[in-house]
Amino acid sequence: MRLLEVKGLTKYFGGLAALTDVDFHVDTGEIVALIGPNGAGKTTTFNLITGFDHPTKGRVIFKDRDITGLRPHKIAGYGLSRTWQQTILFKEMTTLDSVALACRLHQKPRLFNCLLKTPRSRQDDEAAVEQAEEILEFLGMGSHRYEFPYNLPYGFQRILGVAMTVATKPELMLLDEAVTGMNPVEALTMMDIIRKIRDRGITILLVEHNMKVVMGVSERICVLDFGRKIAEGKPAEISKNKDVIEAYLGVNV
Ligand SMILES: Nc1ncnc2c1ncn2[C@@H]1O[C@H](COP(=O)(O)OP(=O)(O)O)[C@@H](O)[C@H]1O
Ligand SMILES: [Mg+2]
Repeated sequence: MRLLEVKGLTKYFGGLAALTDVDFHVDTGEIVALIGPNGAGKTTTFNLITGFDHPTKGRVIFKDRDITGLRPHKIAGYGLSRTWQQTILFKEMTTLDSVALACRLHQKPRLFNCLLKTPRSRQDDEAAVEQAEEILEFLGMGSHRYEFPYNLPYGFQRILGVAMTVATKPELMLLDEAVTGMNPVEALTMMDIIRKIRDRGITILLVEHNMKVVMGVSERICVLDFGRKIAEGKPAEISKNKDVIEAYLGVNV
């Protein structure tokens, strides 16, 4: 099933065309990567899909619904969530509390129940903690649940960001440079996590610089260069594509 479809996506910043007429799609259950040299338009594409910026032209269709220009929280509510290049950590909260909060945000806000601490609200709190425990265990962070995120190694901080996104129960998860800054061991762990999340039923679209990760986990790759899509295909095809090699190396091959 077609989960996400981007049609003719175009974005101008003043006179600069950051993105020109880009088409691509993501089907349910896929792991797709969006790659390209610096300035190619990857972050802009993510921002346009998730509602953090508006396209000059073009459409974003998610689950057959036109979500172009909707506000980020609305889009997240339809089941499309993103991680950030930097994980935002809460100082006063343990790992478990942070993920439980993300689970709680996904539950229907029942302000009345929350304010009055009704039995219903306490049930929701308990359910959120239970879900958070399960997610942390699933992502291999169970033993760190009572620690404060700031005390964790960088790799775990990034996994916590992923855990908080998983907690919002997305159907499609956009991962922005999930392994940037990680050491090779942490990067391998993150690759495993990306596969596990997909196997849990969450479709993945990633922007990634680390080619080993891109080639290792993606099933399909879209390549942007100067705001245009220059190639699309399986990792083996992309790694041999002349236009792609030229874009990355900046030479004619
Ligand atoms: N807010 C902005 N204002 C002006 N130019 C921008 C803005 N965001 C991105 N750009 C420009 O758009 C182009 C694409 O940027 P970006 O999407 O960040 O590329 P990537 O993420 O692939 O490195 C670049 O030339 C960048 O300088
Ligand atoms: Mg970027």
